[in-house]
Amino acid sequence: MRKPFIAGNWKLHNTIAEARALAGSLCTSVGNKEDVEIVIAPVFTALAAVSAVCADSNIKVAAQNCHCIDSGAFTGEVSAPLLADVGCKYVIIGHSERRQLFRESNDFINAKVFAALKAGLSVIVCVGETLEQREDGSLFDVISAQVNSALNEISTAQMEQVVIAYEPVWAIGTGKTASSDEAEEVHAFIRGLLGGRYCAAVAAATRIIYGGSVKPDNIGELMAQENIDGALVGGASLKADDFSAIVNYTKTLKVVS
Ligand code: 13P
Repeated sequence: MRKPFIAGNWKLHNTIAEARALAGSLCTSVGNKEDVEIVIAPVFTALAAVSAVCADSNIKVAAQNCHCIDSGAFTGEVSAPLLADVGCKYVIIGHSERRQLFRESNDFINAKVFAALKAGLSVIVCVGETLEQREDGSLFDVISAQVNSALNEISTAQMEQVVIAYEPVWAIGTGKTASSDEAEEVHAFIRGLLGGRYCAAVAAATRIIYGGSVKPDNIGELMAQENIDGALVGGASLKADDFSAIVNYTKTLKVVS
């Protein structure tokens, strides 16, 4: 069984008051759900407030990034142990906006995954190709390099704390979703990679979620695919009604064949 996993990446939005209000609405609408793992990722400055709001609910809190070293002279960074300290259970690592806008390399992302797991956090590792890479035929090479590098030296046991998010860069914030068939093709490929790197049991147990213009009206089609176990939602996660509708769509546990 893979429990459906729906995460909201709030990106650079919301004051503390706005974040508290949004988290409060979600606690009311979906905070008691047990058949879906629900995660929300506010900005660093709202993590403490949102953690407090969600403390008695089933909604978990994630950070959107972390540094790979626990402490020291790294002005402006936030480390994984400090995220655990503020109540985070997850951290998003390797989002395409970090890879592209902040030039994060595969090696740096791997170091962050390692640090986050060491601190007891679970991770949402993001991978995804640009439109150019899809069109020039390097899609599977890119995904395989990103997955293999991010998971370098990550053990079979640690994989229980890892969720992989496939987010095609061209589908993020564009309103242009990958078709469910296009997404499924890459998800199945990633599951195959996990089988090769680890074993069939890890491949079958790891949640692989899709991100890129997920909305209440396309989540159903995506979730119907065998290898799509959830979603990493950007824009639609900023509206309590839309995010709740996305969470509520996935009513049942998926049975792995
Ligand atoms: P959108 O849902 O706004 O396309 O963003 C997707 C995303 O980047 C989630 O991490």
